Amino acid sequence: MALPLRRSVNNEGAREKLNSAWSRTDEIFAIVASGQLNAMPIVWRHPFIFYIGHLPAFSWNQICGGILKWKSFNPLFDDLFCRGIDPDVDTGECHWHPEVPKEWPSLAETFEYRDNVRGALSEAVDAIGRSASADAQQGRAFQMVLEHEFMHQETLMYMLQQLPFEQKRRPGFLPRYSFQQAPPSRDIAVPAGKARLGAKFQDGFFGWDNEFEEVLVDVPAFTIDALPVSNGRFFEFIDSGAYDQEVYWRPDDWRWKNLEKKYCPTFWLKRGGDWYYRAMFDIFPLEHVASWPVYVSLAEARAYASWIGKRLPTEAEFHRAAYYGPDGRESEYPWGNTPPAFQHGNFDFAAWSPVPIGSRPAGASRWGVMELAGNGWELTDTAFAPFPKFSPYIKSYPDYSRDFFDGKHFVLKGASWATAADLVRPGFRNWYQAHYPYVFAKFRCVKN
Ligand SMILES: [Fe+2]
Repeated sequence: MALPLRRSVNNEGAREKLNSAWSRTDEIFAIVASGQLNAMPIVWRHPFIFYIGHLPAFSWNQICGGILKWKSFNPLFDDLFCRGIDPDVDTGECHWHPEVPKEWPSLAETFEYRDNVRGALSEAVDAIGRSASADAQQGRAFQMVLEHEFMHQETLMYMLQQLPFEQKRRPGFLPRYSFQQAPPSRDIAVPAGKARLGAKFQDGFFGWDNEFEEVLVDVPAFTIDALPVSNGRFFEFIDSGAYDQEVYWRPDDWRWKNLEKKYCPTFWLKRGGDWYYRAMFDIFPLEHVASWPVYVSLAEARAYASWIGKRLPTEAEFHRAAYYGPDGRESEYPWGNTPPAFQHGNFDFAAWSPVPIGSRPAGASRWGVMELAGNGWELTDTAFAPFPKFSPYIKSYPDYSRDFFDGKHFVLKGASWATAADLVRPGFRNWYQAHYPYVFAKFRCVKN
């Protein structure tokens, strides 16, 4: 089935979208307290200052340097900031990236570089319009730069989540938390049928290379939880002692749990005999946030599922549950074909925190499965792999398979509260390692 085309934007629209993405980026960096931009709250990521330079470097390299062939005003920074890191969390091995300098450039120089690139990009909107090839490269190139910025905004947010409170500033505009009780979950039966994964290059306004080409797969019948697992439900797993029993874990997951000395999800902490939840700017007694979705690594989600005699969904099962309904028709979003909005899910920084599961019933899929887009990415147990006819955007980059399609990264679908609405589309695939516990990632279970 051909889905509606995403609407292209004119030059003014493109500039507006860039400006609004940059304002959000600036809001995010402003959370880091003064003097703390060299902090590195997650050992597998660069310090914050790298990302201040990386976002403009990527944009410059793609558009001004790449398509328009403009002469760089800072080739050193174009290279230094061109690529981040994603080490194998089990071995520490990392793909190619520019050598990490003994000292990062000064903040003043990095901000100057950022501002120069932003100015150049605003001019590039018109310039690229005059020189664009017939394949709507303008829309695609700018959307790529925007989506790269959006994805990094989210990774910055989960780095900030790990940054100690005293190293960050609480913004004045935060929405209020909600703590109401969650409705009970139930099993929803999804009959056997087809699921369309990926997308047709011709159909969409923009997608990343790993989203193409589309493929139709047969999915056997399964039942799926109507709601994701909450902190309250996961607490039962911990409280029963099962989290510490090897029998529920896969061998490599168990090894990781022991090596990391994990006794609970990364967002929880235990003081004395009491459990607490560490949100971005506040600590709550765990029972206050019992209705929020639990954020865990895939390894922990698998152990929970095994404890209750279920398993994690596959990518194809997610698609069946999200984009189909009892009438067999496919829809663009779980709720239908209207563009993502506040009532459909907790994404696009609507809340700056999780909200109680089941708070946005208007976002339910036509089977009645809720929260498939928003409030936390949905973990699947499908290894991240190319669809048939995959063709990398960067032809000269030979390591795509070794670095990402490595059997150690798994597909996540949907969106979190820190995911821009532009990324809420069926084709979008996120991917993380099973032993990477920092993501705003929730899960639900399925049964054959
Ligand atoms: Fe990047």
